Formats: sequence, structure tokens, C-alpha cells
Amino acid sequence: MMLQELCLVCLISFTLLVVHVGSTQPPFSCDSSDPSTKNYPFCQTTLPIIQRARDLVSRLTLDEKISQLVNSAPAIPRLGIPTYEWWSEALHGVTSVGPGIKFNGTIKAATSFPQVILTAASFDAYQWYRIGQVIGREARAIYNAGQAYGMTFWAPNINIFRDPRWGRGQETPGEDPLVTGKYAVSYVRGIQGDTFQGGKLNGHLQASACCKHFTAYDLDNWKGMNRFVFDARVTVQDLADTYQPPFQSCVQDGRASGIMCAYNRVNGVPSCADSNLLSKTARGLWDFKGYITSDCDAVAIIHNAQGYAKSPEDAVVDVLTAGMDVNCGSYLQKYTKSAVMQKKLPESEIDRALHNLFAVRMRLGLFDGNPGQRPFGNIGTDQVCSPEHQVLALEAARNGIVLLKNDAKLLPLPKATTSLAVIGPNANSAKTLLGNYAGPPCKSVTPLQALQSYVKNTVYRPGCDTVSCSTGASDKAVDIAKQADYVVLMMGLDETQEREELDRVDLLLPGRQQELITSVAKAAKRPVVLVLLSGGPIDVSFAKDDPRIGGIFWAGYPGQGGGIALAEIIFGDHNPGGRLPVTWYPQEFTKVPMTDMRMRPESSSDYPGRTYRFYKGDKVFEFGYGISYSKYSYEFTRVSQNSIYLNHSSSLRTTVTSDSVQYKLVSELGAEVCDQRKFIVCVGVKNHGEMAGKHPVLLFARQGNRGDGRPKKQLIGFQSVILSAGEMAEIQFEVSPCEHLSRANEYGLMVMEEGIHFLVVGDDKHPITIVI
Ligand SMILES: *[C@@H]1O[C@H](CO)[C@@H](O)[C@H](O)[C@H]1NC(C)=O
Ligand SMILES: *[C@@H]1O[C@H](CO)[C@@H](O)[C@H](O)[C@H]1NC(C)=O
Repeated sequence: MMLQELCLVCLISFTLLVVHVGSTQPPFSCDSSDPSTKNYPFCQTTLPIIQRARDLVSRLTLDEKISQLVNSAPAIPRLGIPTYEWWSEALHGVTSVGPGIKFNGTIKAATSFPQVILTAASFDAYQWYRIGQVIGREARAIYNAGQAYGMTFWAPNINIFRDPRWGRGQETPGEDPLVTGKYAVSYVRGIQGDTFQGGKLNGHLQASACCKHFTAYDLDNWKGMNRFVFDARVTVQDLADTYQPPFQSCVQDGRASGIMCAYNRVNGVPSCADSNLLSKTARGLWDFKGYITSDCDAVAIIHNAQGYAKSPEDAVVDVLTAGMDVNCGSYLQKYTKSAVMQKKLPESEIDRALHNLFAVRMRLGLFDGNPGQRPFGNIGTDQVCSPEHQVLALEAARNGIVLLKNDAKLLPLPKATTSLAVIGPNANSAKTLLGNYAGPPCKSVTPLQALQSYVKNTVYRPGCDTVSCSTGASDKAVDIAKQADYVVLMMGLDETQEREELDRVDLLLPGRQQELITSVAKAAKRPVVLVLLSGGPIDVSFAKDDPRIGGIFWAGYPGQGGGIALAEIIFGDHNPGGRLPVTWYPQEFTKVPMTDMRMRPESSSDYPGRTYRFYKGDKVFEFGYGISYSKYSYEFTRVSQNSIYLNHSSSLRTTVTSDSVQYKLVSELGAEVCDQRKFIVCVGVKNHGEMAGKHPVLLFARQGNRGDGRPKKQLIGFQSVILSAGEMAEIQFEVSPCEHLSRANEYGLMVMEEGIHFLVVGDDKHPITIVI
């Protein structure tokens, strides 16, 4: 009796000890000190991953298999396999928004980069890569510290920012397919541990990235239409040259190890049940190697909300046979067994999914024993929020912020400013700086605090109760504006206006913000500075036209370094160089239904089209717009080819468009011919200003022929250059005619048309003739 009791106590304290140790160690399988598991083939690091994954799956019972098909995969103790959490988020920094990351141990925060839309505005792919790298490194450090239950991150969000009202547009790199694709590749290579140039992964993953949301997902909740039931009607033409290219780049060039299928249907078929999309296109055409997850509860809605599947079991069969592997939610846990019992689902489909799932966990090194010795096992806690990482967050904010107006050189404000009035609901909110899918950040300095560090005599009044600005205290704001040398207004949006599950219905500033700005501007001694925090564009035509508003900035949601970056720019310690990654439409655009997915305009119904590539209406600001304290000029200095000959073979088919232009299909030209036709374009850039600056150069192409579904112009390259005052540099672009001078025809095929095409940089243009 005594002995038994003693043993029991012993056992309990032993268990507690193990739990304690377990909580500070990352979860892993194939512990070399556990003799029962180390001899399994799936633990043999010398075997190919796919063989190891097959071995593991072959050892599972049907119930164990089914248990692994959901995001919170339970442990399988008899094989030494711990729990795994597929769902983690790291959109612009590792966050605890998903259940896979906990900031409840030694590590309490991670570097919080600007929201992606602002990071995109730097047009600097190498910076995007470095951000991805830091996120991956911090993720590993968090895992090594025992605070991560998975290493699969559901980012980047690379849907095209098709409509300015979209609440999640802030999460994306904007409206251009090339920018979005390049962003995807850079982020994925960074986080997964590849080099900037790519191709050096060797199968091992630092952390796993996920291209989402596949595909044509860019409506959350607009006037009663929501993402769960929305059926996106998309033409094959728009799919080919707008919606799909970022995903193709993410998979083919980025070698992403994850894809998330979207809630919405595309032309009637739920994305997660679309085998043409998941299996034929991603795995087949693009050679995708990785796992495919559903968005959260995106399987349940196929039956419940969409009625596409007649029963829960049918929904399970639809997604697994389409090629989806894991369900965020619990639906597959509930209904897969009955689908098998009803003989609707062969077990081989479950095995197929599990092979993909375990292969990714193995590529992450989670079946190699204690990861302490593995490539990423020694990334330490000190990496998280390291000074270098925080500097990168500050740099990203500096390089993204866009100067939209600077009349009479109001900006930068003199450092000798003796009194400053700061007004607006966005001036002193650390949270608003971050945007959604954020935090906790390493630290935060609000714009107000940062401005105070420049001007001691800074007075602050919010002016509005909140961003929605339904009631105001504008009298007090007007009072301080009258007294101060200079006035900075910090206005715009926040998550109460635009977020996941909330699209906007108009494009104006909320509530009485405009009224506040105008009355402050009227009262101030000098023209005022207006700073807009927002993800989506805002129609600020009134401010653009008002001479009493001398300067306007768009600062996105600039992240943990955003307050300091803004103050540095306002007082001239940094020269702004960001350029808008989306078109700023006027309020009038809201007459277009958000549900209309068409990119191309249609004159007969007065439909204006979307994005700078197609939109025909007036703009508040153009895609790519952004000024600086320096003026830059460009010219083409050398173009290595002026004509592209596609008449090399008489056996190649030539076709004629409905407006009588001859064209050839890119797919028929073949990779070799396309490769041979590449040419070099050199652009001279000069900084005419008195300040050094980092300046992104955007190279566009446009066709001589107009209309008939052709883009008005198209970005074909971008590069950032750092120039000191008066300095000139030459930058080089490689142009691939097949990729850059082509467009999708109405059958969704990429074509190259005869005739003149123009390369355009700034005001300079250069003709290239395509001979068919
Ligand atoms: C942190 O949270 C996880 C998951 O909720 C929990 O298992 C773990 O014990 C917590 N750790 C600490 C130190 O509180
Ligand atoms: C292609 O067209 C050019 C210009 O018309 C002509 O000079 C050239 O001979 C043609 N090449 C072939 C192979 O037909």
C-alpha cells in the first residue's frame, strides 16, 4: 500500500517533469533516444522523402489517417508522432492570429513589418525577399523555443486587388499581376530558406509558405454578398492574364510548399472542389509539390452554404478527389469515415492527401529527430526582434510611404519648427499602424510620439472620436491649428472600416473626417500636411484640389516602424520614394457592382473596367504614382533589339483577330524561340534633386493597337535605384517578348500580335516592331 502510493507520487512528478520539459522543446518525431521509433523507415533521413511519407502512411489505421486530415492533427503516440498544427499566420511578421504560434513563453512578440500593400509600394523585390527571410528565421526561432506547434504559414495573400473596396486588399501587393507574382516569389523564397535567385532549397524548408487564396478570391462581404456564397464569374481571358499569373509564379518560381483553395466558387465550381484547378493546373501544369489546405470551413460551406454538394460526405469526396489535402476546420474529421463506409471515397484518396501532408512535415525536418542539430535547429531566441530585423521593418516603412502632393515645396518641414499641431484619430494608435493579421510587435512608436521627438512643442487633438468620425471635437482641433507653425493631420481608415469580412461601400473618408480636415486647413497659418493611413485607396479629390492642403502622404498601415518612418520623412531625414501599387478611383466608381469580376471594360453597358491595365474612367491617382523630394528623369539609353521576328518558320500557325491583326500563340512558339527573342533595355535615371533618394523605376509596355481586350499598358519590369543628389545611373532590364509583349486572347491563350509595341518609362517611349 505504502509502496504503491509512493510509486503513484513518483509517477505523477515524473509526468509533470516530462510535460514541463516538453513545453520548452519543439515537437518532433523520430527521437534517436526512443528505440521504438528510430528503426522505422520513415525516420531514416537518408531515404527519399516520398518513400518515408509512404512508409509512415502505410502504418496508420483508417481512423488515424482520418484524424490527420484537419488543421489540428492529433498525436499518434504509438509511432512517436506529436500533434501538428497546420494553421499559422505570418502575413507581414509572425503572429499568433493562427493557433500554431503562442507568444506565451520567453518570446512575447515578433518583428511586425508594414502591411503588405505598403511593402509593395517600395517596388523592391530584394527587400520583399529579406522580409520573408526574417519572418522565416523568427518563425524557426519561435519553434526552437517550443512556442510553435507547426511551421506551415498561410501567407502570402496574392489575390489581385481587383476592387478598391475590398477589405483584404491591404493584405495583398496590389492590383498588378507582375508585381504580385514577384512579391509572391520573393516572400516564398525568403521564408522557406531559399536564395533570392531561387533553386537552392534542396527539399529542406525553413518554414512553409502558402499561396492563397486560389483563385479569384477578392470579395469578403459587400452589400449582403459574402465570400462563402459568392460565385465569381470569370472569363478565361481574365483568368489567364490577371487572376492566375501570381499563383503560377508563386508555385513555379517560388516553389511554394503550400496552396490554399478559396471559399468562393469560380464559374460555379467551389475552388476546393475544382480538380481542374488543384490537380490539373497546380500539380500538373505548374508541377506543384506541396500540400493544399482549404480556407477555414471552406469544405463545410460546399454543402451548407453553397448547396453544391448534396451531403456532407459528397463535399468530402469532392474536395479529396479534386486534390485538396487538409481541411482547416473539423469537417473532414467528422465525415470522411462515413464517406468511406458509404463507398463514395476510396481510401487511396486519403493516402494521396496524407503523402503530401507528411512529406511537407518531413521537409520541415520534423521527422529527423531532435532538430537541434539540423540546418535550422540552431536559430536562437535572440533572432526574434533582433535589432537588424527591427531596422528592416523601419526601412520597409520608409521605402513604402508614398508622397502624393507637395505644393510649393511645403515638405519636408523645417527641423527648426517651433510648434506643431497634430490632429486626427490615427495619430496616436499603435494598433492601427499594424493592419490585420498582425502582432504582437516588438515595440511600437505612434506617429504622434515620433513627431514629438522632432518638435518638443507638439500639441495633439484627435479632432474626431474615432476613425468613423461620427461626432467631432473639431473646435479644439481648429484652435490648436491656429496657434501652430505647422499642422499634420493623421486621418484615413482602420479595421473598423476595412478588414476581413468587411468591404467598404464607398471610397470617401469616413464620417466627418473631410469636414475636419477642411476646417483645420482653413484655420491654419500655412498649408497643412495630410497623412492617410489605409489599405485601400480613398477618394481625396477635395484635398488634392485644396491649396490649403499642401502635402499629402499615403502610409498604408506601416507596421511597428511606421510612426518613426513617417516623422523622418515629414522632417526630411528620409526622401520618400514609394509608388502606389493600386489605382485610386473616384467615389463615382462605386456605381460598379463589386461582384462584377470583369477586368476589361465594356462600352455597351458603360462598364469602365478595372485597374490601370483596363480602367477607362477618371482617377484620383494613377497606379505607380508617387513623387519625392527629388525630381527624377528617365531615358532609354540602349535597346538591344528593335524588331522581333516570329516569321522564322512557315509551319507556325498565324491567326487573325476580329480587328484584323495577325498573331501567333506563345505556346506554339516554344520555350527555345522565346528564350532567343529576349533582349536588353537600358534606362538612364537621374536624380535632379538636392537629396539622395531611393527610386523605383517602372518599365511598361503598350501595344500600338488598342481596344479588343488589349491592356492599355502593362508593367513589365521594375527596379529600385539609390541615387545621391545630381547622380545618374543606368539600369538594365531583360525583356522577354513572349512574356512581356503578349496578352491573353478571349480563349485564354497568350498571343503575340504583329505591329508596333512601345516600351514606356516615365515620358519616354521606344518602339519595338513584332514581325509575324
Ligand atoms: C502556451 O500555450 C499553449 C497552448 O495553449 C500551452 O499548451 C502551453 O502550456 C502554454 N505555455 C505556457 C508557458 O503557458
Ligand atoms: C521575316 O520578315 C522580315 C521582314 O519582313 C524579312 O526580312 C525576313 O526575311 C523574314 N524571315 C523569314 C525567315 O521569312
